Amino acid sequence: MASDKIYIFDTTLRDGEQVPGCQLNTIEKIEVAKALEELGVDVIEAGFPISSPGDFNSVVEISKAVTNPTICALTRAVKKDIEVAAEALKFAKRGRIHTGIGTSYYHIVHKLKSNEEEIIQRAIEAVKYARRFVDDVEFYAEDAGRSENKFLARVTEAVIKAGATVVNIPDTTGYCLPTMYGEKIKYLMDHVPNIDKAILSTHCHNDLGMATANSIMGVMNGARQVEVTINGIGERAGNTSLEEVVMTLKSHKDLNLVTGIKTKKIMKTSRLVSSLMNMPVQANKAIVGKNAFAHSSGIHQDGVIKNRENYEIIDPNEVGVNESEIILTARSGRAALKHRLELLGYKPNGDLDDIYNRFLELADQKKQVNDNDLEFLVDMNKKEHRSMKLDYLHISTGTAPETMATVRLNVNGELQSATASGNGPVDASFNAIKEVVKRKLHLEEFLIQAITKGSDDVGKVHVQIRNNGTIFHGFSGSTNILTASVEAYIDAIAKIK
Ligand code: KIV
Ligand code: ZN
Repeated sequence: MASDKIYIFDTTLRDGEQVPGCQLNTIEKIEVAKALEELGVDVIEAGFPISSPGDFNSVVEISKAVTNPTICALTRAVKKDIEVAAEALKFAKRGRIHTGIGTSYYHIVHKLKSNEEEIIQRAIEAVKYARRFVDDVEFYAEDAGRSENKFLARVTEAVIKAGATVVNIPDTTGYCLPTMYGEKIKYLMDHVPNIDKAILSTHCHNDLGMATANSIMGVMNGARQVEVTINGIGERAGNTSLEEVVMTLKSHKDLNLVTGIKTKKIMKTSRLVSSLMNMPVQANKAIVGKNAFAHSSGIHQDGVIKNRENYEIIDPNEVGVNESEIILTARSGRAALKHRLELLGYKPNGDLDDIYNRFLELADQKKQVNDNDLEFLVDMNKKEHRSMKLDYLHISTGTAPETMATVRLNVNGELQSATASGNGPVDASFNAIKEVVKRKLHLEEFLIQAITKGSDDVGKVHVQIRNNGTIFHGFSGSTNILTASVEAYIDAIAKIK
């Protein structure tokens, strides 16, 4: 059976941009519009031109900058709004006017102080007027979610007759249950005699967390356009999110509904919108959240490593995420550690136990162990086998001018110790080591870096020493920066032949 196309109408730049703090300037809007074009959306709702000169200008500039998607401008069912929208769309290759009026009891009686017959007349006039300027007119029945289906069917029939190409059925207040919304669309498909002359569109808000479910029920019952925003941003609890609808349809091939979205660009677009609009994406957000493909429990990690599909229904590559993330924590098992080390290019063999024990020690000190930490653990493991090791370190420091350090080294199995003073804990420890090894050592460089951020982080220490004109490098890392310094110094000395 051939699949039906679902048109993706993106309203990130209109409904999404209405959110306080999310306002973009025209240049930023153009950047988002171009990203939406690359993503493959069919329609971009670029603004509400009568609302402000800035919105007007953005619709003009987006119309010039973008060629493939239809550019849509919002209006009320008011002549002046429609004229201004038409003017803003004059550079659009394909322009659409989106006009409409409230159809629920609340809107008709309390907001518009009107009645059903007047509302139908105003709807017809608005659509006819908009058709004077553009061939593509979408009508929205505001608060359709709470409108009576019988009246909604009358309005839908009338606006299609007046020339509407798309009829939008918004659940403006996010009130509907998925079954209610699906039934509403089905009712219109079954009771509007000229429904074959237009497309029904869903436009759902997320007040009860059902925007995606309602939109999917809408398309399962005959709607062929879905109105969405990137990351689900929008008024109050937001709008239906593009990524959720697109990936739901892609994951359920049996629905025979396809979109033109290039899903590999989803993550990139999500990040762009989030950063330009200063709207962080919640970590557990479906598809684009930081944790959407991250596995942290040992059982899940083992399952994903054996076969990704054990715990993932979407291949992260499909949405532009490079790979499933295995979060290494104290709960991770050997399989997860081995897998991660292999991805980093290490081939842990018999020494996995040693690394695993070091890993658990570190994971107890840090919440998450990252790739840099692992590289360090592997390095430390190699150092286990060198001829000179630190056996004991004691530093006494305080307000006295000199710090004392006692160091005991294991040199080829023999324990040797010394105590020395210095002008700080590192200097004192290095002096004690020099006494043990009885060599002329000159410290050329001493560098401390945190691997990531946070006071629980592993500090990396690099030292360079000179002995008889030759430079030797030493490296170490630890959550204890003094131990790391001493270990790095010993690492360099152990390289002197
Ligand atoms: O939610 C809504 O009803 C709207 C309309 C203006 C389409 O955003
Ligand atoms: Zn809306």
